Amino acid sequence: MRRKIVAGNWKMNLTFQEAEELIEEILELLDEENAPAEVVVCPPYPYLELATDYSEEGMIKVGAQNISPFDSGAYTGEVSASMLKSMGVSYCIIGHSERRKYFNEDDKMLTAKVNQALKHGIRPIFCVGESLPEREAGRHFEVVRSHVRHGLFHLDTDEFHKVIIAYEPVWAIGTGATATPEQAEEMHSYIRTLITERYGEEIAEATIILYGGSCNSSNASEIFIKKGVDGGLIGGASLKADEFVSICRKA
Ligand code: PGA
Repeated sequence: MRRKIVAGNWKMNLTFQEAEELIEEILELLDEENAPAEVVVCPPYPYLELATDYSEEGMIKVGAQNISPFDSGAYTGEVSASMLKSMGVSYCIIGHSERRKYFNEDDKMLTAKVNQALKHGIRPIFCVGESLPEREAGRHFEVVRSHVRHGLFHLDTDEFHKVIIAYEPVWAIGTGATATPEQAEEMHSYIRTLITERYGEEIAEATIILYGGSCNSSNASEIFIKKGVDGGLIGGASLKADEFVSICRKA
């Protein structure tokens, strides 16, 4: 049985005070019996320590939004996997379409980030997904296959086992145009087929695949109920505690 996960990607939002309020509200609203899903918050770097302090209560886990492809040393502005690990960070979003687009992160860079994360015991939440023109041209499977293969399939079985995949169609991110539950189900099933071909059925069945893209408390149930959808990566709706916790309860 795969564990459900709901991860909040705060992106570049909130002041320190707002971040603290949000975490406090999330913790107040979550109570252990009613939170079957693993709840992860992914704040900006400067708020990670705040989040890991609160995570000591055991209700939430903390993810970073980025990670250096390098180990350590003279890389001004970078934050390494070992630093994140030493702060109690458990997950890291890697391959998000915003980083692919605005920071030119290519397969080589993403592979290095995935390797760094795994080397230091951080579980990658690896994002894949097609743009609108790619979907309209019927290339969505091809694009997602390329993301999964080039970003992850160099890993051996033990390493791959620790990776979480997030299917995030780029046209659904921050647009209010969520994928239909059927589109999500279809792509999740396709990704699992790719994993079966590379690592076998047991690993494919154990791999957690999240959906992301305009997921909110109104549409979460119909998406999460679909076979092969193991929870969500939530952007905008993760910035409001009641909305986010309501999504967590639907996983
Ligand atoms: P959204 O973002 O929920 O605001 O669409 C999702 C994401 O980018 O991870």
